[in-house]
Amino acid sequence: MSWVGTSWKMNKTLAEARDYATRLAAALSDGAPAGVQPFIIPPATAITTVRDILGPDSPVVLGIQNAHWADAGAWTGEISVPQAADAGARLVEIGHSERREFFAETDETVNLKVKATLAHGLRPLLCVGEPGEVFAAGGSVAHIMAQVAAALDGIDDVSRVLIAYEPIWAIGEHGREARPEDIEAVFAALDAAYGDRVEAILYGGSVNQGNAEETLRVPGVNGLFVGRSAWQVDGYLELLRIAASLA
Ligand code: 13P
Repeated sequence: MSWVGTSWKMNKTLAEARDYATRLAAALSDGAPAGVQPFIIPPATAITTVRDILGPDSPVVLGIQNAHWADAGAWTGEISVPQAADAGARLVEIGHSERREFFAETDETVNLKVKATLAHGLRPLLCVGEPGEVFAAGGSVAHIMAQVAAALDGIDDVSRVLIAYEPIWAIGEHGREARPEDIEAVFAALDAAYGDRVEAILYGGSVNQGNAEETLRVPGVNGLFVGRSAWQVDGYLELLRIAASLA
């Protein structure tokens, strides 16, 4: 199964979320393309709106971009995993590089959040990635394997976990598109260590309609985690079609 999804990051009003969800629901009214598991991670404000438009039988898995490790309490500004589940999220994105860089997310808090997510029966989407300097110095594999090991520390059953390898140097408008040879070694290492233990291992970072196919052909890649190129529904649907053509 190829998991292909998008985080909208801090984008979209409710009107924009409604429009996207309405078009997506219409396009997937006969179900998801064979072999592809779609997922959408809206901002928290729009999860219930998207859930209600997609409806209970939608093939789309909904997620939240972050959740706290505690179930409840005096944690101003935070959202717990049970609250995310209550709103319709079935997947929790954890440890995106933007959260690690700008919101002090550490390997320790990532580990706590993965555990909380699993304890409540949701799927963690664990994001890992190395900075450009580490890539340039040839340290990508060691960096990524250490991040994943720290995130999964103390967890025996990782079968519900999704891993997204997102090199920091490839993410966002200042990122550069990765070539298959840039990411092959990390996927070989992740696949050898986790390929038969986790749900899927995804690639993210400047994925677009032009490079999706070659990326999905890299051994060990089981899906795509996309930002900008999936923020318009037609672009997202094209990525689902590409993934389905290879499934
Ligand atoms: P872009 O696809 O916009 O580079 O973002 C990738 C990403 O960070 C997905 O979480």
